[in-house]
Amino acid sequence: LHVAVLMGGWSSERPVSLMSGEGVAKALEARGHTVTRIDMDREVALRLAEAKPDVVFNALHGTPGEDGTVQGMMDLMGLTYTHSGLATSVIAIDKELTKQALVPHGIPMPGGRIVQTAELFERDPLPRPYVLKPVNEGSSVGVAIVTADGNYGTPIARDSIGPWQEFDELLAEPFIRGKELTTAVIADKALLVTELKPKSGFYDFDAKYTEGMTDHICPAEIPEDVAEACKDIALRAHRLLGCKGTSRSDFRWDDEQGIDGLFLLEVNTQPGMTPLSLVPEQARKLGMSYEELVEAIIADALA
Ligand code: DAL
Ligand code: MG
Repeated sequence: LHVAVLMGGWSSERPVSLMSGEGVAKALEARGHTVTRIDMDREVALRLAEAKPDVVFNALHGTPGEDGTVQGMMDLMGLTYTHSGLATSVIAIDKELTKQALVPHGIPMPGGRIVQTAELFERDPLPRPYVLKPVNEGSSVGVAIVTADGNYGTPIARDSIGPWQEFDELLAEPFIRGKELTTAVIADKALLVTELKPKSGFYDFDAKYTEGMTDHICPAEIPEDVAEACKDIALRAHRLLGCKGTSRSDFRWDDEQGIDGLFLLEVNTQPGMTPLSLVPEQARKLGMSYEELVEAIIADALA
């Protein structure tokens, strides 16, 4: 096959996407496929039209590669591409829209509300501790946990407007103590549950992409009913949103609350494919190599 691997782009997750894309491209080459690497810029449609690939592997993260924009462009061009389509991407990139889509179906997600960033100068939007996050970023970019006596991560607006100047509004959610869990779905099957244990602070950008900063416990050492609930929710969310190829659902679990303490935070439609990424790791634990995973995602796109 001739596969165009779309990567890079200009979102805050550009470096992550370059790592994902290079991993995918190397795997495809090792499998004997012809690969065109395309670093996405404003001329991407021209580059794709020139390359005429059999299939596009979308290794983009964030805007506009994960939010439906690039998907719509490829639909218009009649290209076959991996991962979710336009409508799914538009909803899943937006953590608030995702709640509106999933909570009515009984998927447990944290409450909270959208706040104007300027409002944060005036008052706490929720009782502390709470989490502030941009609605449509990935890799924990712009996330802060505001605790009783301060905050981790991005400084809150009252301390310093910091990188948040670019966000007019943020999602404020109650902070859920306990564990960070994640489950991948591939080929309409939920794989495993991984617990992410950062050695310090929370599972932020550095903890995600610096080797040795986070322990991945897979399968997570959690009660069977909680593990089953993670898999059930991940698969239901994947289907309800109409995800294709693969998705990864991220959770918080308050281990003092039993099964009632489990909350889905979000569904990632373009989960990372870097050497430290979680979907390839879960696949590997189940005997599927990185190369086989890449092939499976492509097979799903071509099916
Ligand atoms: N947003 C990053 C790439 C992930 O979901 O893995
Ligand atoms: Mg995400």
